[in-house]
Amino acid sequence: MSLRLYQDLAWLWPLWGDVSDYEAESLAIVDDIKLHVGPTATRLLDMGCGGGKNDAWFKRHFEVTGIDLSEAMLSHARALNPECRYLQADIRDAALGCTFDAVFVNDALLHMTSAADLAAVFETAFRHLEPHGVMICVAEITKESFVQDRTEVSVATTHEGAAAQHVTFIENHHDPDPADDTFEWTAVYLIRQDGRLKVEHDAGTAGLFDLPTWRRTLQQTGFNTLEVMRRFDGEDYPTFINLKPG
Ligand SMILES: C[S@@+](CC[C@H](N)C(=O)[O-])C[C@H]1O[C@@H](n2cnc3c(N)ncnc32)[C@H](O)[C@@H]1O
Repeated sequence: MSLRLYQDLAWLWPLWGDVSDYEAESLAIVDDIKLHVGPTATRLLDMGCGGGKNDAWFKRHFEVTGIDLSEAMLSHARALNPECRYLQADIRDAALGCTFDAVFVNDALLHMTSAADLAAVFETAFRHLEPHGVMICVAEITKESFVQDRTEVSVATTHEGAAAQHVTFIENHHDPDPADDTFEWTAVYLIRQDGRLKVEHDAGTAGLFDLPTWRRTLQQTGFNTLEVMRRFDGEDYPTFINLKPG
């Protein structure tokens, strides 16, 4: 899905979730990589890295390369993590010409709206891994966990000089057809600057697969997969730890 959030409204991204919110999840991933690859793991590829908020934690442990389609998001990532390498690439067909000890894919997978695209991302990860390397991905929303019309609201305030800016993020998930593999992702942003209100709208189609599809696709890619349930902020997330055979 091509969202305004990654284009003309990408300036909102640093306000939507603080880097500190990413600490627990990122450090759990670091532990997984060290456990499964060993202490020699040094190179990590973050696929669909966005503004680099996970990388702000990963870079303390690994040499990080991030790829993303959006130049606006990559600009945020470069500003946050000048010591990391960032490249514009599509996670479905990237060919970076190098390999990594570990690959991480977070909620960029939400943007895969067909099983073929999901498989293409897993194949990209597989191609970029060393033998015995590990790819970790999180099934943020699945058919099993989907909540119809779930709506979340969060608020952020920033200060530019003396002027305060308040943004209210309203995110809604709606599935008009439970038989297919997609749902409607909609957001409204209430932006108050200098006392003036601007309302922006954002919408796209997101992927929605059941857990058997995730498992089957990972297995068909060639991974040996361990599945664990991780709990962050009161929610459970199926997390797949995928080992590339030697
Ligand atoms: C919700 S953001 C998440 C960013 C980051 N992983 C995080 O958790 O903060 C999703 C990102 O996926 C990127 N993306 C979506 N489809 C992509 C594709 N086909 N190839 C590369 N990046 C993609 C978007 O540009 C966006 O930056």
